[in-house]
Amino acid sequence: MTSGPKLKHSDMVAGQYEVSGCIAFGGMGWIYLAKDVTLNRYVVLKGLVNSSDPNLAKAAVAERQFLAEVKHANIVGVYTCVSDTRQVDGKTNTQAYTVMEYVGGKTLKSLRTERGPLPVAEVLAYMHPVLIAFGYMHANGLIYNDFKPDNVMLEDGDIKVIDLGGVCRMTQTGRRHLLDRRLRGARAGL
Ligand SMILES: Nc1ncnc2c1ncn2[C@@H]1O[C@H](COP(=O)(O)OP(=O)(O)OP(=O)(O)O)[C@@H](O)[C@H]1O
Ligand SMILES: [Mg+2]
Repeated sequence: MTSGPKLKHSDMVAGQYEVSGCIAFGGMGWIYLAKDVTLNRYVVLKGLVNSSDPNLAKAAVAERQFLAEVKHANIVGVYTCVSDTRQVDGKTNTQAYTVMEYVGGKTLKSLRTERGPLPVAEVLAYMHPVLIAFGYMHANGLIYNDFKPDNVMLEDGDIKVIDLGGVCRMTQTGRRHLLDRRLRGARAGL
């Protein structure tokens, strides 16, 4: 069951982000458009963990802060991670959020839904910057882990990989995760 948004229009998060409204509902709950009132620009807030435990929220903020170091023209810019505590339905609720760049445009999934299978030349033109983005991440010891058309957006002809929720460091566990996914893909005949 989809629970209602925890944030509403004009709520202030971390003293800096004024919520405009919801833009989507994803695996981590509602995704919000907000205005950074300090820097006067729009940002997107996305929940980090599905837990209202303040300690878990704090740990998630610390653990995912490295995403702000990822800087590439074809990857959504993560500005920071913050924790927000407020009263929701009479209960104190703490939620961690990723604060990221607002990407206009649409996902490759919605493009495909609208237009049907895309011409191969166009697909190659979209995949080239995606592979460059992955090359950048790998060079920086990171693995993306969640590649699919839903997680790539086209903004004014430019490609942006979004949804960095699955990005992990290339540790032994990271490599293991990658291998597991490759094996599952191979078994599924991908
Ligand atoms: N930075 C952004 N700028 C604009 N729109 C965004 C941004 N991040 C997410 N969205 C919108 O929210 C949707 C879901 O975002 P995302 O893929 O990050 O979350 P998710 O939890 O994986 O959701 P899903 O389970 O639907 O894939 C995207 O398809 C896109 O429409
Ligand atoms: Mg996604």
